[in-house]
Amino acid sequence: MADRVVVVTGGNRGLGLGVARICAGRGDTVLLGSRDPAAGERAARGLPGRVHAVQLDVTDPDGLASLARDVAAAEGRVDVLVNNAAVHYDTWQTSVDVDLGVVREALETNLLGAWQATLAFLPLLRRSAHPRVVMVSSEGGSLASMRGGTPAYSVSKAALNALTRTLAGDLARDRVLVNAVCPGWVATDMGGPGGRPVAEGAASIMFAVDLPDGGPTGTFTRDGRPVPW
Ligand SMILES: NC(=O)c1ccc[n+]([C@@H]2O[C@H](COP(=O)([O-])OP(=O)(O)OC[C@H]3O[C@@H](n4cnc5c(N)ncnc54)[C@H](OP(=O)(O)O)[C@@H]3O)[C@@H](O)[C@H]2O)c1
Repeated sequence: MADRVVVVTGGNRGLGLGVARICAGRGDTVLLGSRDPAAGERAARGLPGRVHAVQLDVTDPDGLASLARDVAAAEGRVDVLVNNAAVHYDTWQTSVDVDLGVVREALETNLLGAWQATLAFLPLLRRSAHPRVVMVSSEGGSLASMRGGTPAYSVSKAALNALTRTLAGDLARDRVLVNAVCPGWVATDMGGPGGRPVAEGAASIMFAVDLPDGGPTGTFTRDGRPVPW
């Protein structure tokens, strides 16, 4: 599938920028979301093809609604929404020694932000012939392997996984494929040094971006292979 309209949240750096780069290189129109417009413009300038920086803060419902109106006027539809923006990989705390303010912020961005962005773009996704919603999650949200540590992040990603399943069910009749992906450990600002290159993590995300019509929905994968919930 070419010539898609792809919205990426948190597209100005890290994995979001990596996904934007791959999509733009393939001929998609990429709306590179960034909460800081200047950072978005800088990132977009470094990419090939049709990339438009757009101001997008997933915690700002009015801003999302206004952006959706602009995208409706300019593009008429959205084919792929990549809910990538996230905060607070909180390695410094545990669930018993925890700042609940950090937990609230993580839920606000990582769960409710992705939810809000999906709702804002849903009318435009419904206008697509091949609508896809991709939740950039993490094995850190897997209940199967969850132990202690990173409480804000892990709980927010587990909730994001639950949202993936409920949205997949509720949007099945609309043909919207909704899937969660783990990019693996990736060397970004969040992941820190030592992880795999951004291009490899972004390729793991692209699996769910590129699913064919009739493909799976409500799944959780890394590099195209199932991750236990
Ligand atoms: N790196 C890893 O090892 C790893 C592993 C598993 C999963 N993941 C997941 O992969 C995704 C991308 O992570 P990353 O490593 O690329 O992180 P990153 O380098 O820290 O980038 C995070 C991006 O999210 C944006 N963001 C944060 N809050 C936002 C908001 N309210 N509205 C819009 N954008 C917002 C940031 O924008 P600003 O520049 O404005 O802060 C930035 O563009 C996340 O969902 C993360 O949980 C990463």
